[in-house]
Amino acid sequence: MKTYFLLATLLLATTHVLAQKGDDSVIALHTSHTSMIFSVAADSCLYFEYYGDRIEDCTPFAHKQTYRRSDYGTDALAYPAAGGRFFNEPALAAVYPDGDLNTELKYTGHTDSLSADGNMKQTTISLADLKQGLHVSLIFKAYSREDVFTASALIRNLNKKDVRLTRFYSSYLPVKANSYYLNTFYGAWAQEMCMEQSKLTHGIKSVESKKGVRTTHTENPSFMLSLDAPLQEEAGRVIAGALAWSGNYKLNFQVDEFNLLGISAGINPFASDYSLRRNQCLATPEMVYTYSSRGAGQATRNLHDYARNYVVYDAQTIRPTLLNSWEGAYFDFNEEVIRKMIDDAAEIGLEMFVLDDGWFGNKYPRDNSKQGLGDWQTNRTKLPNGIKSLADYATQKGLKFGLWIEPEMVNPRSELAEQHPDWIVKAQGRNIPTIRGQWLLDLSNPQVQDFIVNTFCRIMDETPNIAYIKWDANRHAESIGSDFLPADRQSHFWIDYTNGLYEVYRRIRARYPDLIMQACSSGGGRVDLGVLKYHQEVWTSDNTDALSRVFIQYGTNMIYPAVVTGSHVSATPNHQTGNQTSLKFRFDVAMGGRLGMELQPQSLSPSERDFARQAIAQYKTLVRPLVMQGDLYRLLSPYDDHGFCVYMYAAKDKASAVVYAYCLKYQGRTHFPQFRLSGLSPEKRYRVKEINTVGNKSVYWGNGQVFSGQYLMNEGLNLRLTQCCSSAVFHIEEVR
Ligand code: GLA
Repeated sequence: MKTYFLLATLLLATTHVLAQKGDDSVIALHTSHTSMIFSVAADSCLYFEYYGDRIEDCTPFAHKQTYRRSDYGTDALAYPAAGGRFFNEPALAAVYPDGDLNTELKYTGHTDSLSADGNMKQTTISLADLKQGLHVSLIFKAYSREDVFTASALIRNLNKKDVRLTRFYSSYLPVKANSYYLNTFYGAWAQEMCMEQSKLTHGIKSVESKKGVRTTHTENPSFMLSLDAPLQEEAGRVIAGALAWSGNYKLNFQVDEFNLLGISAGINPFASDYSLRRNQCLATPEMVYTYSSRGAGQATRNLHDYARNYVVYDAQTIRPTLLNSWEGAYFDFNEEVIRKMIDDAAEIGLEMFVLDDGWFGNKYPRDNSKQGLGDWQTNRTKLPNGIKSLADYATQKGLKFGLWIEPEMVNPRSELAEQHPDWIVKAQGRNIPTIRGQWLLDLSNPQVQDFIVNTFCRIMDETPNIAYIKWDANRHAESIGSDFLPADRQSHFWIDYTNGLYEVYRRIRARYPDLIMQACSSGGGRVDLGVLKYHQEVWTSDNTDALSRVFIQYGTNMIYPAVVTGSHVSATPNHQTGNQTSLKFRFDVAMGGRLGMELQPQSLSPSERDFARQAIAQYKTLVRPLVMQGDLYRLLSPYDDHGFCVYMYAAKDKASAVVYAYCLKYQGRTHFPQFRLSGLSPEKRYRVKEINTVGNKSVYWGNGQVFSGQYLMNEGLNLRLTQCCSSAVFHIEEVR
């Protein structure tokens, strides 16, 4: 199994073995504004001491006391294992060949190394249970500028026989406050990433997925924890976290009898016991943390910077605007329909056309969702001249071309299912349930990995000007079983599937480094930092209704930057919700991410087409650089009951910004939104210009005027927005 080390980029490695319980028994990790501190005690256990604002002098942690009876369980261990005196949810649990269920990890040394640019310092702390030969390397990376720490564990078996791991979290983080307000994301298909806040009570609250594949539909492996008070934007102590893993995950929040909160985060141990042979390792995914003493806003900005600088594939490249065929044509198209869509996309100034589902299958044509998946040959009836002729046509029109695939799946009615029943995930002798009429391929099997890579490469090589792939996955795993894994390794399925997927991504990326890839999974079923290492973007939700999207995008962008969130203008009434909204509102909302359209452009009236053309042009020049790379400031939350949502992106140099304001309910004749801007420079002067106006009518009395940053950040804007689904977008630019 591969580790996540970036050894190649590391310089200067230093090795330490600490003298225990002395002034040098402290291991302090720092970022620009935060510190994470550990100590090694006389018993050689590694204790977690502190995570919060930066502390320069860490020496007191060598002799700091806690008021805790030692026979009531241990102090906060850095990576507690089941056994000994630890009674809470452990980070690690193992069953040894002699039946021993206890693991006692002792510190054996640590190393530091610094990245070439000096921004990332990796500290690897080595622990071992010497009786059983289980070794754990805790790997912490401190990202200085971003104020982010990542934590993961590499678990190695040096026992002579197999060791069965039953818990293998990436990290354990003990937190001490008087009260804990946990903000997590909950949802369902077409309602992803809705925010919920709960005050933690004693006991365990878990956020998890046990379904595999489509792991982020209902919950997301991320959170914002506010200490001592409910979450606020610009004040308060906040720890935010996100796990970089696209398989089953579990984040446990356990408040114990000492009112200490223990957060264990990592791969979900559910039905996933993992046996290691001698010398074999299990590498756990990275858990990403940031701490802010200035509220949720700063925590988000730290995570966004970290994601853009270190996670998201090619995050600095500008993403093209696009027309996607799905809601405009569904399965019902032919070459003429697609060519016309390409013409229209070019005519209104979009930069790419993406052909969605329905283009493949011959024996079982993909004319609906019940057949053809797995048969990745172009359908000769619909597209007699092949994909290449469409891609060439788009190229001639000045557009890039993109294609949809769903390579992890197979319909029972397909040639692939007929040829390779052994590749289908199933429990022997049991029914194989379908979801959306399809089965799941067994990615723990290297032959299946090869099939997917080869299929992908063939499609790409047949049409070299494919610039974008939308990679879909429209079901989760059920009734699992693998024909490939031996009987005593069936529980490896969940982890091996995800690592198999990553292996496929790695091979594809090695061959197509410039390809733009979108991770889609029935909408927002794969929104996590693991998938984003290989993809430029995610499809946030199959719900394209602008009103719903205000909430979905607000929640998603709490954690994930807008450079990754695809956001499309679709038809009205909306196909999912039936809501009717103006084209302006739909554009104003879709411009909060990577803008696209997903409708039949022929259904637009001439004036709507003009509006679209102008909005797209303004997005490309004025909005896109800000929303993709700027700093997010949330000004009014749609989750508060005032019925407004306002947020803005400010350029890093504070020379420009874009402000979005949405009215989400009818406000009567008296309630007008008032909000103060953020992220500008008080000394600078800015022109405030409303864009996307209809008939040049602005909702702001000061439209086009110049104001000081001080005025905008203190008095702010007051808008005439009172009707449900009315909106405004402003471009703000420094005047020198
Ligand atoms: C999923 C995706 C949609 C679309 C369809 C095609 O539902 O989320 O965007 O691609 O599949 O079948």
